[in-house]
Amino acid sequence: MGEILGVGCTHRPLMLRPDEDWTFMMRAALDDPAMPAEMKDPARWPAPLRAELGNDWGTASATRGREVYRAHFAEARRVIDEFEPDLVVMWGDDQYENFKEDIVPPFAVLAYDDQELQPWLHRRSPWNPWNEPADTTLTVKGHREAGKYLATGLIEAGIDAGYAYKPLHHPMGHAFLNTVLLLDDERRGFDYPLVQFSVNCYGRRVNAARGLRLPLAMRDDIRDLDSQLFDPPGPNPHRCMEVGAAAARIMAESPWRVAFVASSSWSHSFLTEKNYQLWPDVAADRALYDALETGDYAAWHRYTTAQIEDSGQHEVLNWFCLLGAMEALGRKPDKATFIETWAFVSPVVFAYYQA
Ligand SMILES: [Fe+2]
Repeated sequence: MGEILGVGCTHRPLMLRPDEDWTFMMRAALDDPAMPAEMKDPARWPAPLRAELGNDWGTASATRGREVYRAHFAEARRVIDEFEPDLVVMWGDDQYENFKEDIVPPFAVLAYDDQELQPWLHRRSPWNPWNEPADTTLTVKGHREAGKYLATGLIEAGIDAGYAYKPLHHPMGHAFLNTVLLLDDERRGFDYPLVQFSVNCYGRRVNAARGLRLPLAMRDDIRDLDSQLFDPPGPNPHRCMEVGAAAARIMAESPWRVAFVASSSWSHSFLTEKNYQLWPDVAADRALYDALETGDYAAWHRYTTAQIEDSGQHEVLNWFCLLGAMEALGRKPDKATFIETWAFVSPVVFAYYQA
């Protein structure tokens, strides 16, 4: 029988940018021609946001934050290493990377073989925290057999997930690649075979906004569920929990030791239209986090797509999959941490559910 470890972490794209860039999304919103003049006045912003920005647009806070995140990634890596998984199944979002106009599956098991990746080659800037050359190549192991096993089990359980043996538009989306990179801060390699489990977190805006921010002029349109400007929604939170639960049952019957990893931060400022994309919905994240900490899975099941969209919590759908899995296994977190931030796109949660 397979043993299962549960880990929740982030793929924190900011870690792959210099400290002085950590507020670039907030500045992009401020530069939007449709930003109302009164919202540009810092006096209207929450006090903790102003404090984090300081007088250098957050650079000093980012330098401190980077060390906090590094410590948490090191801990996540330690937990995974101690468990010695045969493979990692990672839930991650696709932000108009691999899945675009030609197909957007609600869920897809990417049952790939090993991949050779060049993480810095096609980025706008090759800057990276490890000073690696732009043409650096790394190998990420796949596990086609386990991916097929998981997809087969899901379909047999009545969950019609898609599957793929090779990438479509992008070798590996940031939700997976960033996490592999950040879990390997010491650059000794991340040798665990990876099965990427893609979740359509961006739903109504995945094609419409190419998985990023919408111009503020469309702020009211996105609230109109009949608007033809947008795409069909992502899977609802409750369904994500059912999928996670099924995945846990399937892999618990497998011959492998499996680490389930949910890879994403929580509410995103650039998805929180009610805050004019300037800061995330910290209160909504706190409430959801409290339910995570106490193992109040019913509260997670009650959550709706409307709440997700209103609070910019699109990417938390990855965590709904993980929590569904942990509920099915009767687990509560052995350790969880909420890292509050207002200026740096999104609060971050780390959580561990030991086997
Ligand atoms: Fe993401």
